[in-house]
Amino acid sequence: MSNQPYRTALVTGASSGIGAAIVGRLRAAGIAVHAVARDKQRLARLADDTGCTPHAVSVADHDGMAEIAKTVEIDILVNNAGQSRTGNIADTTAEDIDALVDVNLRAVLKLTHLVVPGMVRRNRGHIVNISSIAGHYAFAGGNTVYHATKAGVHSLSRQLRCDLYGSAIRVTEISPARVETEVFGRLIGDMEEAKRRFFDEYESLLPVDIADSVAFAVLAPQRMNVSFMEVLPTMQVVGGLNFAKKSADPA
Ligand SMILES: NC(=O)c1ccc[n+]([C@@H]2O[C@H](COP(=O)([O-])OP(=O)(O)OC[C@H]3O[C@@H](n4cnc5c(N)ncnc54)[C@H](OP(=O)(O)O)[C@@H]3O)[C@@H](O)[C@H]2O)c1
Repeated sequence: MSNQPYRTALVTGASSGIGAAIVGRLRAAGIAVHAVARDKQRLARLADDTGCTPHAVSVADHDGMAEIAKTVEIDILVNNAGQSRTGNIADTTAEDIDALVDVNLRAVLKLTHLVVPGMVRRNRGHIVNISSIAGHYAFAGGNTVYHATKAGVHSLSRQLRCDLYGSAIRVTEISPARVETEVFGRLIGDMEEAKRRFFDEYESLLPVDIADSVAFAVLAPQRMNVSFMEVLPTMQVVGGLNFAKKSADPA
């Protein structure tokens, strides 16, 4: 029997990949988990497998999320739901800019805003934000709007520690590099091709690796705040520098 103080969690983006693995890992730790995503069927299967409570709602639906926050006393909030797009800033449509900001950043801010006051009242809680190495590094091929939203999640995670200074509420940002999930298949619209291109020849992280990272932070002794974890596949590095020649054609 664990003596950790958390009883309930809310995990967004729970219907697949990292979010589903986090739900399973927290349930295994004896925590009641509320699982949020849009795909009702997948959530129902996850509920059968793990015993979580499914909520088929978009994180961008502020009223829907407010309804959940009103009825559930949330000890652990995992802001995991995220989307990406292909292409650079010029290729990204205005609608896609809105969608990425709405899901990756605005929803994280609003849900955190909904949940923090209750945590402060109870002086108990843990916010876990899943950002991305895209929020910390520039690299060619990444979608610029995705990078910007994840940088926002990084900044929020840091600043929240200042907001919550003096309270027992902990904040953890986990910044993964490549994890084998459906995100790349969704991006290029072909799961098989994504598997071939991104995973068959590259030993990537698995969702369970990030779920275990979340569990490490959440189940750590209350005196300890894991503020930031950058988690990469062993064979992947970040960084890199390009320098176009004077003669290079910008087009
Ligand atoms: N995989 C990687 O290499 C990687 C690396 C760094 C960071 N990340 C981050 O990790 C997080 C999880 O991604 P993943 O790799 O596990 O990808 P994934 O398998 O595509 O999962 C994304 C999840 O977000 C949910 N979601 C998307 N839009 C939503 C909305 N409007 N409302 C509620 N849920 C929504 C999806 O569920 P529904 O479609 O059912 O709503 C799905 O459960 C994301 O924030 C991503 O940016 C991933």
